[in-house]
Formats: sequence, C-alpha cells, structure tokens
Amino acid sequence: MIEFKDLSLVYPNGHQGLKDVNVKINDGEFVVIVGLSGAGKSTFIRSINRLVTPTEGELKVDDDNILDYKSRGLRDLRTKVGMIFQSYNLVKRNNVFKNVLAGRLGHTGTFRSVFNLFSQDDKALAYESLQRVNIDDKIYSRADQLSGGQQQRVSIARVLTQKPKYILADEPVASLDPPTSHQVMTYLRKINKEDGITTIVNLHFIDMAMEYADRIIGMRSGEVVFDGPVSEVTEETFEEIYGRSIREDDLRGGAEEDGEQNE
Ligand SMILES: Nc1ncnc2c1ncn2[C@@H]1O[C@H](COP(=O)(O)OP(=O)(O)OP(=O)(O)O)[C@@H](O)[C@H]1O
Ligand SMILES: [Mg+2]
Repeated sequence: MIEFKDLSLVYPNGHQGLKDVNVKINDGEFVVIVGLSGAGKSTFIRSINRLVTPTEGELKVDDDNILDYKSRGLRDLRTKVGMIFQSYNLVKRNNVFKNVLAGRLGHTGTFRSVFNLFSQDDKALAYESLQRVNIDDKIYSRADQLSGGQQQRVSIARVLTQKPKYILADEPVASLDPPTSHQVMTYLRKINKEDGITTIVNLHFIDMAMEYADRIIGMRSGEVVFDGPVSEVTEETFEEIYGRSIREDDLRGGAEEDGEQNE
C-alpha cells in the first residue's frame, strides 16, 4: 500500500509542487492521475520512488516512511517500484534483449551487474517479458531502430523483468498516436490484472483515463481535487480538474476538427 499523509513538496525555487496531499493507494489498484500541464502529476509520481523529495508530511510505501530513506533504502525502493517514462529511457545503442535484462540490475550483485553476468533465469524472464508485450521478434534489434510504440513495449518488458510490486508510468503514451496509445495502455492494464501489480499512470486526458482506470485522481495546482472511481466522475469533476466545462471543450474540439478538414 502507498499512503500520502499531509504530503507537501516545495521546490528549491519556492514553487509548491504538492499541497497537503492525502491519498491511499491499495494493492492491485490501477490509478490514473489526470490534470493540466503543471498540475503536479509528475511530482506526485516521482515522489513515490523519491526522484523528488517531499518537504513535509509522510509518504509510506508498505508502511515504511520512504522520506527517511538513504542510499540503501532508496536502491531497494527503486527495485520494488518500477518506472516507465514518456521518452522510454532505453539505451539506444543496445539491443532490445540487453535493455530488458537491465531490469534485473537491482536484483543482481554489483560484481555481476558490472560484467553483465545474468543467470539463465534472468534471461528466461527477460524473454518471457518480451513475449508478453509481443515484441520478442525484435530481441536483437537495436533499441533506436524501433518505433515509439515498440520502444515503449520494450520498456514495459524491462519493468516486468524487474518484477516490481508497483509500476509508475509518467505520461507513457504522450509521444504516441492514438491507436498505439491504446495498445500500450491495454498492455499496462493487462499486466496490472494478471500480475496484480499496483499501477499508477499519469495522463493528460480524462477520456483515456476513464477507459483504463479503476480509480481517477484529479490534480490542479499541486492539490488533489478529485479522487474516486471512474463511475463517480461527472461534468463537475471535469471542471474542477481543468477549470472549464466539458461543453466548452466539446465546442472547442469541434472547431478544431472543422479547421483540420479545411486544410
Ligand atoms: N525541479 C523543479 N523546480 C521547480 N519547480 C518545478 C520543478 N519541477 C516541477 N516544477 C513545477 O512544479 C509544478 C508541477 O510540475 P509537474 O512536473 O509535477 O507537473 P505535471 O502535472 O507533471 O505537468 P506536465 O503535464 O506538463 O508534465 C509546475 O508548476 C512545475 O513548473
Ligand atoms: Mg509531468
């Protein structure tokens, strides 16, 4: 379980990234965080693996306050909490297999990891993870020779190979076209259901969030302005999160579509 207790984060320049956040995320949940650019979605997610450090309150992962963690604690935390990024974060010149095996690094000792000595079990797990996201045919391709959607699937395979208890995904589909975005979200959802890995995903748009999430957390200016199941999301929720009504948005969307047709 992950628990934010009166959690705030003030960046060194004085900007408040999180304001008094109280959220409990239960094991196995698929939670999507939505909000405008600058709302604090990345700050929320990055707090959980301590890529950023909240300045007040408590943040508990499995009943342990991770704000106290130093090097060893942080290393273990980041082995338990896997991360998927918008920009995939693959080693471009390495092949797919090597990239996916990197998911084991937190589990192997320093000596083995320095020399890239992976066990047969590690290799089997890496291959199986590639199969699960249907990209095993690219195993010996260089990462930079893959499309964005393929690279994101490799990064999902890497995180699976890590065997995390939690997966964080910060805008995993922001660089992908709509069908590819849906494919990636479908894999994340499938893994969440099959393996019971608690998954927290940041997305800009509530419509995609509604399709995949069990629960939605809406953020605005560093604060949680909505937290509930998809079934409780209403027009008012949309207004709270985005500061405008869904009808205005519909009208604006319609105008843009007309514009495109005229081009
Ligand atoms: N390292 C930093 N130093 C100072 N301010 C920061 C830092 N990182 C983020 N911020 C500010 O904190 C606020 C929240 O940023 P955050 O990246 O969490 O937003 P976000 O919801 O993820 O936005 P986006 O959708 O654009 O990714 C923003 O106003 C941002 O400018
Ligand atoms: Mg962000």
